[in-house]
Amino acid sequence: MATIKIDQDYIISEISPLLFSSFIEHMGRSVYHGIYEPTHSEITKEGFRTDVLASIKELNLPLVRYPGGNFVSGYNWKDGIGTKRKPKLDLAWRQIEPNEIGLHEFMHYSKLANFDVMMAVNMGTGTPKEAGELVEYCNINSGSEYSNLRIKNGDLSPFNIKYWCLGNEMDGSWQINSLTADEYGRKAHEAAKVMRWIDPKISLIASGSSGPWQPTYPVWDRVILEHLYDDVNFLSIHRYYSLEKDFSTADYLSSHIDLEKYIDEAFSVIKYVKALKRSKHDVFLSLDEWNIWHQKPIKEEKVYNNNYEDEWTVGPRRVENTFDFEDALTFFGLIISIINNCDKVKISCLAQLVNVIAPIMTENNGRMVKQTIYYPFQLARIFSEGVAIKPIVDSETINTHYGIIKSLHCAVVKNENEYRVFILNKSPEDSELNVILNGNLGIVRKHISISGQLHAKNTFDYPNQILPIDEPINDEKKITLKGQSINVLVLKESK
Ligand code: AHR
Repeated sequence: MATIKIDQDYIISEISPLLFSSFIEHMGRSVYHGIYEPTHSEITKEGFRTDVLASIKELNLPLVRYPGGNFVSGYNWKDGIGTKRKPKLDLAWRQIEPNEIGLHEFMHYSKLANFDVMMAVNMGTGTPKEAGELVEYCNINSGSEYSNLRIKNGDLSPFNIKYWCLGNEMDGSWQINSLTADEYGRKAHEAAKVMRWIDPKISLIASGSSGPWQPTYPVWDRVILEHLYDDVNFLSIHRYYSLEKDFSTADYLSSHIDLEKYIDEAFSVIKYVKALKRSKHDVFLSLDEWNIWHQKPIKEEKVYNNNYEDEWTVGPRRVENTFDFEDALTFFGLIISIINNCDKVKISCLAQLVNVIAPIMTENNGRMVKQTIYYPFQLARIFSEGVAIKPIVDSETINTHYGIIKSLHCAVVKNENEYRVFILNKSPEDSELNVILNGNLGIVRKHISISGQLHAKNTFDYPNQILPIDEPINDEKKITLKGQSINVLVLKESK
């Protein structure tokens, strides 16, 4: 019998409403053939696919990062406004950017899909001056060159974009015009100054390490923050996980342990620079790219699809991983760790949303499917509002390359009188569970679970292999967790 003890006084932090956001990049079939396909049979008057739009709306996303990613480091936002649009080569993904979808179109899409936009500025080929002009175009009412141009291009009201990323993965050799930490720190500091002079209300995100495996990590983060600490509100970090060749399922499902270590280290760098600067200002983490990403052939049963076909075309296939249930389990473990670190992480963006390592996949001019990871992400969207509480877990153990660890990985969210308990059962065995809530056995009101064959996938022909179900509650004080399953329990205190 496993036990989870919850004490309402063990508060980690209020959960930021931006904690589970997402990301749409001009990459592969994310925009063209993804959200936008004017030749599809069911579209809005602007040419956006209504099936994709409906699935995005169901997630009720707070924020979507845009337009990149690596793409932004070669992108001139002025190419995507006005009536004279020219196709350009995108060197990041070796595709053609037709510039049919630009700033206005995406801002209109954000209204249709009901999310706010987290805009990235180009810190590769772009300049602080162009970043300032973009803020002016988006956020100044009228009366200046760029605000007047926005009005001329059809939007009288400013877009009022609050969150701004100062570039993307500028530490990476693959980035168009990558920089050293000192070069980036100086450039981003100057951009931040100009952008804030134009609109002091904006929040800025510094481009931190693209991964802990980068040779420059964590010196990069320290050095850029020494230039930028008081300019920014967030330090961005990115992390993707895969089933490595020598991993067991238990190892893979425990990837969250590595994420926790990365969050902890990156946040320590923030704290170090805060102390160094004697600053009273707080900076938090923006984990603005995270997901499962199989970048190289792994085990036979995995669909790898990291293809880079059709160079120099519009909307070619790029990294269209098919996710199975094992991926969804690992993914849910990451969600739980993000909740448990909500005192440090205030924004996270699932990378990405459509067709590129994505929960939503489309056929060109055809069907749409929600991949296995769509559903755990939706559970996070529905149940993560409130205050995170640190649980004490007592369960059987499993053997992993991290050592012998508990088979249950768990996070708790308190929302008024309701406790939402996120549980990943990593063991292949079913587990009986009691939840002790503030000293008494908790009463289970709802139990949503997702389970299935480890390599089951949702495909266009079989879209419903992996779905959440409402478990019948036979005993409201004792729960059965299926082996290798995703669970959300909703509990109340017993009176
Ligand atoms: O999300 C895909 C790519 O991964 C992004 O463009 C880049 O920032 C990261 O390397």
